[in-house]
Amino acid sequence: MSERLVVIGSQWGDEGKGKVTDYFACRADMVVRYQGGNNAGHSVMFNGHKYSLQSIPSGIFNPATVNVMGNGMVVNPESVLVELQKLHDQGITDYQLYISDRAAMVMPWHSALDGAYEALKGGKLIGTTKKGIGPAYSDKYSRIGLRMGDLLEPEYFAERLQGALEQKNMELKMLGLPTYDFHEVYDRYMEIAKILGPRIVDTSDLINKALRGDKKILFEGAQGMMLCIDHGTYPFVTSSTPSSASVPVGAGISPKWIDNVLGVAKAYCTRVGEGPFPTELHDEIAHEIRERGHEYGTVTGRPRRVGWFDAVVARYTSRLAGIDNWALMLFDVLSGLDKVKICTHYELDGKIIDTPPSTISKLARCKPVFIEMEGWKDDITGIRSYDELPEAAKAYVKKIEELTEVPVGVISVGPDRTQTIIVSEKLKNF
Ligand code: GDP
Ligand code: IMO
Ligand code: MG
Repeated sequence: MSERLVVIGSQWGDEGKGKVTDYFACRADMVVRYQGGNNAGHSVMFNGHKYSLQSIPSGIFNPATVNVMGNGMVVNPESVLVELQKLHDQGITDYQLYISDRAAMVMPWHSALDGAYEALKGGKLIGTTKKGIGPAYSDKYSRIGLRMGDLLEPEYFAERLQGALEQKNMELKMLGLPTYDFHEVYDRYMEIAKILGPRIVDTSDLINKALRGDKKILFEGAQGMMLCIDHGTYPFVTSSTPSSASVPVGAGISPKWIDNVLGVAKAYCTRVGEGPFPTELHDEIAHEIRERGHEYGTVTGRPRRVGWFDAVVARYTSRLAGIDNWALMLFDVLSGLDKVKICTHYELDGKIIDTPPSTISKLARCKPVFIEMEGWKDDITGIRSYDELPEAAKAYVKKIEELTEVPVGVISVGPDRTQTIIVSEKLKNF
């Protein structure tokens, strides 16, 4: 029985990772975020309340679970404070949370630069969340970034801050943006250090001790594989790798520990932001799905683009991330449609292909090849076992399994924690 579970987004984000993580977190000793930052918006719902998390792991609602923000994340400490306050206001006060001393910090100028870089692109926006994620990762790789652990050493922090500001203020000035005063930033971050300092630790050590102690550990991905900086629809992607492959680096563990990957997929597809989306719908059905699934971004409130389930994408992401099971989400949203469609292949310049091309210029030319299946009318939100599902819904699940060669291990029939069907025996035992 595996004691580790990696939960990743397999489409363009917002697949329901928060719900799935919270569901399993009720039984996990530890939940670890390993990439991304507060560009994520993970929703969790139980006991009639809905919560939204940006950078805090979705295990935060279980007081017994240790939550870890790993070194692969970009952490905006101001935003962590806001999130904690929000949780506090909602009555969530009993939790365990640690932040990696090696996590890159998102500084105030990063969001300013995010907006400015987007504006410089003229009409060709990426449509980022403007949280400064790209600029923060860029500074990390340019080796001028600040890290959470720096906050614990005031003199060292001052030295690093001075160096970063020399470069950043020059850039901000060139772009006509306000610059930052060293003392103001320093004083504010020393205040932050007083509040968050006790939570900033060597989280790799913490996680490895838990691994050796046979603890149940869940790794919670953010974004989705098609937003991966390497394998996604570049350049319309985020600046990290949401894959299970980034867990070892982003959490500070050996890759040998990764053996159980749950690919979270909507029963259809959505995308927020720009970039090609082969199965996108522009008709009445898109409107129906968007309204029924409340498909509006949790971070930016933008309406999400909607399309049919894309088995080309699913096969690709399962190949890249070693997906063992699908968690098929928002299945209830498809109820009531006369017909449902699944994209099996693409047609590119007259040829049938079964994997996405590397450039968005080609991907934009891909025409989806669909199969059409019978829909189902019944409300499935109260169903709690696979056998009770309408026959047409079961046929849809089977078709996805057949086209992707990956079993569906979890079916979600509503946003609440209880609206979950666990099909896989292995996952029942996690
Ligand atoms: P994440 O970023 O992957 O965690 O996903 P989000 O939380 O951004 O978006 C998923 C949305 O779908 C949230 O509003 C969830 O509450 C909601 N949701 C999750 N699972 C289901 C489901 O099975 N049915 C319905 N109707 N909504 C769901
Ligand atoms: P969760 O974890 C959906 C998208 C943005 C934009 C692109 C780059 O909730 O699934 P960024 O701010 O990361 O530089 O934006 O990536 N994006 C997401 N879309 N869900 C997310 O997170 C996303 N995080 C980033 O809309 O297109
Ligand atoms: Mg989201």
